[in-house]
Parts: sequence; C-alpha cells; structure tokens
Amino acid sequence: MGRAISYFPARRRGLMRWESLKAPATAELIRRHLPGGGATALDVGCGSSAVAAELADDFALVVGTDLAAAAIELSGRRRRADGRLDGHPTVLADAERLPFADAAFDVVYSYGTLHHTRLAASLTEVSRVLADGGVAVLVDFCRESPGRRSVPRHIVDALTALPGYARRSDLRTAVSITLHRLGPTWLRHVRRDRFLSEREFTEQYERALPGAVFYTSRGRVVAVWKKVGNVHR
Ligand SMILES: C[S@@+](CC[C@H](N)C(=O)[O-])C[C@H]1O[C@@H](n2cnc3c(N)ncnc32)[C@H](O)[C@@H]1O
Repeated sequence: MGRAISYFPARRRGLMRWESLKAPATAELIRRHLPGGGATALDVGCGSSAVAAELADDFALVVGTDLAAAAIELSGRRRRADGRLDGHPTVLADAERLPFADAAFDVVYSYGTLHHTRLAASLTEVSRVLADGGVAVLVDFCRESPGRRSVPRHIVDALTALPGYARRSDLRTAVSITLHRLGPTWLRHVRRDRFLSEREFTEQYERALPGAVFYTSRGRVVAVWKKVGNVHR
C-alpha cells in the first residue's frame, strides 16, 4: 500500500494554497490530451481537489480519490467554498485498490501521486477502471539520478520560489505556502520521497500501459495512454 502524506493542521492552509496556485497549469497540461473530453473522470491522489475544481466543468462527473483522510477533509472544505465542485464527490481510497467497477471512467488522470504507490498495482488499477477508448494522463516527478530527494535542495527551491508565488498571488499566500514547504511535516515527507529516473519511469509505465506516449516537462514525466481493446481481461 502507498503511504499517505500526513498533514499538520497548522500548515493545511499553506498546502491548500500551494495546490490551488499550481492547479490551473496542471489542469491545462491534462486537458491538452483530452480533446474530446469525456463524461466521467477519476482524479487519483486528488489532494485538496484543486485540480478537480479546475476540470469539473469539462466533465459530467469528476471523482477525486485519495489515501489521506486529511486530503478528503480538505476536499470537503474546498467543495464548500468552490461551487465548481458541486456534485463531484471525493472518495477515500488507495490507488492500488480502487473501489470502482471495471471500465467506470472515460478519463483517469493523476498528478504527483503515483510515486507513492507500487506502480505495478496502481497502474493495473488505472487500466482496469478506464473504459475502452478512454485516456489516462499520468504526470509525476522524476530525477536525473533516481533515489531520495535532497532536503537542502528542497529548502533552497522553496525559498527561491517565494517571489514567484508572491507575483502569482500575494505576499501572504506566498509566505503561507513557503512555511508549509519548510514545515516539519513536509520536510519529513521530502526525506521519505523517492523519485524514479526518467528511464525507470518509462520502463515501468510501458510495462503496465503498453503503447503509452511519454514526454518530459519541467522535471515531470507525462504519460498519455489510450486504452484500446481488452488489455487486462
Ligand atoms: C503531491 S500530492 C498531489 C495532490 C494533487 N494531485 C495535486 O496535484 O494538487 C500527492 C497526493 O497523493 C496522495 N497519495 C499518496 N499515496 C496514495 C495512494 N496510495 N493512493 C491514493 N492517494 C495517495 C497523498 O495523500 C497526496 O494527497
């Protein structure tokens, strides 16, 4: 089973603001691969549902799912504040064992989540719940040299990102995001995180999702896979 991020209550606002700030670009990246849209979408590892809110008008139904109870709670908080999420539910679930029927979704997308999971299990689940002809857009981080992340580098990155956050929002939001990124909970998370190299990433995804197309974009690998035929039946 994957490991959920534990959220320190005092830092939750910073996390929500961080996810909100990143969400429009993430939604745009995902939307680019869905020219026909679709009726139903699943967001695997939805966090506070910031991306789901951006994409909610593109689908009749966007279901968010996350392993962390705190993420489901933050999603509820966002739903109460943001009408776009009305009617789009969030479900507590492990990406490795999704509680949905085979072929339940036209689109499955995920951002920054699957490196927390055993890929053989989570990618099999992505394939299973996707309808024939459906599209998966899976975005995650990778590193030139695979392995654990560097905490000092993360701290430098967080501090140098502050002015950019302030330009895109306001100083209060930027400080709150930076305090979250430098807080003990997030630093513990960074210490545990492990990213694949781009090569490992494409090999593992290709094994589970044959024919997937890959490209890199600013330290992330994007995998786009169209389900054709009865892949896992
Ligand atoms: C970096 S956050 C990304 C949140 C969201 N996708 C976004 O872009 O704003 C990663 C999320 O993955 C969730 N997660 C970790 N392991 C998981 C698993 N096995 N199944 C489902 N979600 C998981 C965490 O709880 C966290 O909310």
